[in-house]
This record gives sequence, C-alpha cells and structure tokens, in this order.
Amino acid sequence: MTQTRESWGSKFGFILAAAGSAVGLGNIWKFPYIAGENGGAAFIFVYLICIGIIGFPVLIAEVLIGRTTQRNPVGAFAALTPSKMWLSVGFLGVLAGFMILSFYSVIGGWTIGYVVETLRGSLSNFHSPEEAGVLFGALSGNATWTLGYHTLFFGLTMFIVVRGVQGGIEKSSKIMMPILLSILVILMIRGMTLPGADKGLAFLLVPDWAKINGQSILIALGHAFFTLSLGMGAMMTYGSYMSKKDSVITASAQIVFLDTIIAIMAGVAIFTAVFASGLNPAAGPGLIFQTLPAVFSSMTGGVYFSFLFFLLLAIAALTSAISLLEVVVAYFVDEKGWNRKGAVLIFGGSIYLLGIPSALSFNLMSDVTLFGKTFFDIVDFIASNVLLPFGGLMIAIFVGWVWTRTSVMTAVKEGAEQLFETYPWFESVWFVFLRFVAPVLITLVLLSSLGLV
Ligand code: PFF
Repeated sequence: MTQTRESWGSKFGFILAAAGSAVGLGNIWKFPYIAGENGGAAFIFVYLICIGIIGFPVLIAEVLIGRTTQRNPVGAFAALTPSKMWLSVGFLGVLAGFMILSFYSVIGGWTIGYVVETLRGSLSNFHSPEEAGVLFGALSGNATWTLGYHTLFFGLTMFIVVRGVQGGIEKSSKIMMPILLSILVILMIRGMTLPGADKGLAFLLVPDWAKINGQSILIALGHAFFTLSLGMGAMMTYGSYMSKKDSVITASAQIVFLDTIIAIMAGVAIFTAVFASGLNPAAGPGLIFQTLPAVFSSMTGGVYFSFLFFLLLAIAALTSAISLLEVVVAYFVDEKGWNRKGAVLIFGGSIYLLGIPSALSFNLMSDVTLFGKTFFDIVDFIASNVLLPFGGLMIAIFVGWVWTRTSVMTAVKEGAEQLFETYPWFESVWFVFLRFVAPVLITLVLLSSLGLV
C-alpha cells in the first residue's frame, strides 16, 4: 500500500464520531419504546447492567482490534491470525453493515420527511395518536414519499463519507453532535416543565420489578449491541483510525457514557411529554411517529418542538449511517485497493438499491412476506438479531481466548499505562467478562432470537 492510511485529527474527534455512530435511531426511537413496553425504570436498570457487563467489555475489545491492526474488520482479523475462519467473522460484519444501512436509511428518510411535514404544518392538528397514525400510514404507504426520502438520506450519507475520515466523518460529527446534544437538552427541559411531567419521571425512575422476565432481559441485552454499534466492526473500523497514544479504555468509557446518557435523556424528554398529555407509554414502534405528533399537537409551540425533535432524530440517524457505510468502504479501500470515491459510489449505490425493497415493504410490497415478515423485517431481523450478536460473540471469544493474553495486554496498555497502574484489577475483571460472562449471555440472546430458548 503506497498511500498513507487516513486517521482522526484528534481524540476528541474520534470520540464524537464514535458517539455519533452509537447514538442513533436505537437511542431515540427504539430505546424509549422498548423501555416503555417493558416497564420503564426496572428495564432501564437491567439495560444499564447489560451495557456494563457486555457492552463495555466488548466495545473495548472491538476498538482495540481496530486500533492495533489499523485495518477494516476483514483485514484486522487477517493481521492477527492465520486462521481463515476469523476472516469470515470480518466478512459477516461487512455484510451486516451492508444490510443494516439499507433499512436504516429508510427510517432515516422518514425522519427527514417528518421535519419537512412539520414545516408544512401537516403535523400540528392531531387530537389523538390514532389520527397521527392515519397520516403516518398514508406517508409510509406512499412509495414516492418513502423512496424519495430514502434517496435524500442516502445521498447525504454518501456525501459525508466520500469526503473522508477527517474531512467528512470527523468534521460533520463535530458539527452535528453538539447540535444533537443542544436539541436534546431543550426538549428535556420542555418535557420536565410540563404539568404532569412528574408521572413521566416516576415511570423512568421508580422500578416495577414485576415487569422483568427472561424476555425483557434478552431484549435489553440485544439492544446493548445495537445501541453501541457492536458486533459488526463499525467500532473496529473507527478504532482503526485512532492513534496509539490514546487510551482505548478511556475512549470506550466515554462512548458508553455518551450513548447511555443520551438514551436516558431521550427517554426523559419523551415520557414526560407523553405522560403530561395523558397518553400511553407502551406505544411500541409507533411511539415516535404516532404518539409524539399527537403530543406536539397539544403543546403550546408544539410545532417548534416537533421540528427540533425530528431534526434530532435525523441527525442521530445520519451520524450512525455514515459509520455503517464506512465499514463497507474501509474494506474495499484497505483490502481491494479501491479509491474512496469509487468505493462510496459503487457500494453505497448497491446498499441504496438494497434499501428500495425495504422502503417498498410499507407500501407496494407490503404483501410480499416470508414467515410473516416483510423484506424490511427480514433484513432487520437477520442483521440485528443474528449477525450482530454472532459478531459480538466471536469478538469476545477472539480477544478473550484466541489472541493471546500477553499480546492483548501489550496492545491495550498502549496509551493506558497509567490506568492499569492505578487499577490493576481491571485486567482480570475485563477478561472474566470477555471469556465467560459475555459469551454465555450472548449465546442466550442468539438462541432466543432463533426461537431456540
Ligand atoms: N448504534 C446505532 C443506533 O443505536 O441506532 C445503530 C448502529 C449503527 C448499529 C452502526 C450498528 C452500526 F454499525
């Protein structure tokens, strides 16, 4: 390779980009509704434990593999082991990136569509979530609308990634992440100052343990992967542009912290408003596109908050989408010698095409199903419920058992010497989680996804 490989301009830039990858539809759309459906505070408690015992140790492992090898997921395994089996783990990661981005862009498109609908005034006159649901059905049921916004969202993603690691991903994250945080703070303050907000806060803070069962624990575990962008090499790829002077542990802790605090802030903003309007918190996936428009309609100045909220979602989705595309692009740039522009156009273009049947799953192709699932559901299921946990399992096993402990420790101590001197127990605890706790629990998630437990 004659060209020097790209890298982040600063540690701060890396943290923002990686937090941008982690914070996405998972935090602002999915987390609040699964928390709502599974009992609020008690579920959040279980989720935090999952993040701590599985998410954090696996995130460190993923970033470390990337940082050590300075390669995409396939090249990274190739650099660390002669065994071909591990290459296929890298390949599955690239494939998962391909699949997730294809349907992620469809929902990302809806969020931009809702920003535009807010500006057009069509979201401000609802008296109930059902009424808002009718409009949602009409919009997502309209092939031109869904395809149009999928195209726009994908175009923006390609526009950023083609500009490169520093000039595209890092620069845009430095602009978008502070906007995202500011909007979230505004929405949270608005939510908490609404009359009746205390019921929403109680829902998030006072646990009802009766709601916790095996199923909700598995949902929390599965979500820990999706929300931290784990199991498919996104964090490995971002880690591969990281400097060896920085600590992988501190960086991972900061990413986990931002991702978690933002999911909780989104929960506070949403549930205070939902409870203040006397609506149902367990509204499922329609919480954002059906319940919230009804909430905004009943609020003074609701149109501004609606605009800010959907803009927040669009930004969150975009900073995640770019990380998904970067995994695929990095593979073709590193391994196949493509230039960035060609890789973005050809492979971005192919992912965009794969997204079309997902976009049509809500309208023209809604009757085309397999095992009762639409094309969209199938791609989502395979990628999020099978490929991500499988990838996470393999990464934990690889760092825990295959890549020798001495090599792992030499790699992880680079940039983190001080940390290991201050907290010498960290090494053993991390290894116990990687070797035993994570593999056992992730295997359970996988088996349950496949309907085997
Ligand atoms: N972490 C993102 C979210 O919470 O929406 C989703 C995601 C992005 C998953 C990137 C995987 C990934 F590689």
